[in-house]
Amino acid sequence: MSNKLKKQFPDDFLWGGALAANQIEGAAQEDGKGLTTADALPDGVFGDVSFIPRENYLKKEAIDFYHRYKEDIKLFGELGFNVLRISIAWARIFPNGDETEPNEKGLQYYDDLLDEMKKYNIEPLITLSHYEMPLTLAEKYGGWSNRKVIDFFEHYARVVFERYKNKVKYWITFNEINMILHAPFNGGGIQGKPEEIDKSVLYQSIHHQFVASSLAVKIGHKIMPEAKIGCMIAGTPVYPLTPKPADMIETMQKERETLFFADVHVRGKYPNYMKRYFKENDIHIEITDKDKGILENTVDFISFSYYMSSCATADAELHEQSKGNIMSIIKNPYLKESEWGWPVDPEGLRLILNQLYDRYQLPLFIVENGLGAKDELITDETGHPTVIDDYRINYLNDHLLQVKEAVADGVEVMGYTAWGPIDIVSNSTGEIRKRYGFIYVDRNDNCEGTFERYKKKSFNWYKDVIRTNGENLV
Ligand code: BG6
Repeated sequence: MSNKLKKQFPDDFLWGGALAANQIEGAAQEDGKGLTTADALPDGVFGDVSFIPRENYLKKEAIDFYHRYKEDIKLFGELGFNVLRISIAWARIFPNGDETEPNEKGLQYYDDLLDEMKKYNIEPLITLSHYEMPLTLAEKYGGWSNRKVIDFFEHYARVVFERYKNKVKYWITFNEINMILHAPFNGGGIQGKPEEIDKSVLYQSIHHQFVASSLAVKIGHKIMPEAKIGCMIAGTPVYPLTPKPADMIETMQKERETLFFADVHVRGKYPNYMKRYFKENDIHIEITDKDKGILENTVDFISFSYYMSSCATADAELHEQSKGNIMSIIKNPYLKESEWGWPVDPEGLRLILNQLYDRYQLPLFIVENGLGAKDELITDETGHPTVIDDYRINYLNDHLLQVKEAVADGVEVMGYTAWGPIDIVSNSTGEIRKRYGFIYVDRNDNCEGTFERYKKKSFNWYKDVIRTNGENLV
């Protein structure tokens, strides 16, 4: 008899895809929607911030999901999704962010979208703030550096919780909340390069987001006792570049740059190591007693994106870099990289799942993972346009096998939502030639194209993964 454990996904595993409003919807100023910080970054995270939007830019129409959502949800239904991660564009509900009355047309749009998902038994997972906020809040209030923004967010959260309480069970507060450290305008509407921004201002903004996130958990649980509300971090496991003890210490420090954000959300207070960090870096932030009480409203689950691992070294010499997602990282010589220079490391996913579960014993949700690649549209033997994207299939297959391993390790994994199940506009570079989807969208970086949707080879592959609950992975 073999002692080998049968590795399998839980029966109630949530399978699906993940999207963000500003990367799909378009309709940038339609039906009363206000401009957002995402509209002010037409070239992606590292481009210039432009408060007056360009005449034309990709996100303005994106993939026109705002008008084509029925067609797209139908395709997701065909894929067999039982979950879809979407985000609400805050500025559809409160165009400037500081109004008292919401925009009914914006609320109605998400009602209709949720009803459409329901038709196909697709459970919504909603992110309240996915890399955007009403642009006015950035311009007039300085984004999250201003404590007042907590009240505006609380009001927004309350309105959408009340409105969708019977339709939505799973919620996420802030997307990749830790990335504000590397891209402060993208994550927090704060102008300036991270190295130019006073550290006290940056950490004060982070603190405001923590309080806002905990408030959302608090009021969310009150309005929807059955709801599960989670935090979301960009998950990047860190490996020491060498076994030198100093590299190991550096690894610990680097990991804490991410874990800090989960620690506060899960434990409801600041970890001790941050006290030292604040002291040594002359960082002073205001944390009131009221804030401390609010932070005690901790999350029900931890969600995270996973695209890559990174390395750490204590050696001051310049080391070869790889492009990370939003931040650049030290190159791991053992890993291959994607066309955009992102290291590919499926085992890192098993590692981070175990690491987070060992640390917190809370359910985990992988809410982003995937390969951004250039696709070539060809015509298949039946005359239909398609993409033969074996590279994407291989990438996802290898990562999902590691999720299966982690489940066998005993990690509680709620689900997996592949990033960009339909091609969308890239967050970091603002392009669309970087594609993640199972569904191709006819649009190019010059804002040309028909918006037609075509199934790629990976469409049927992922459909089979879901149908067999991951039994077909090899
Ligand atoms: C994550 C973001 O950082 O990575 C997404 O949450 C983003 O919004 C995704 O799109 C992939 O990055 P990119 O730059 O390829 O779009």
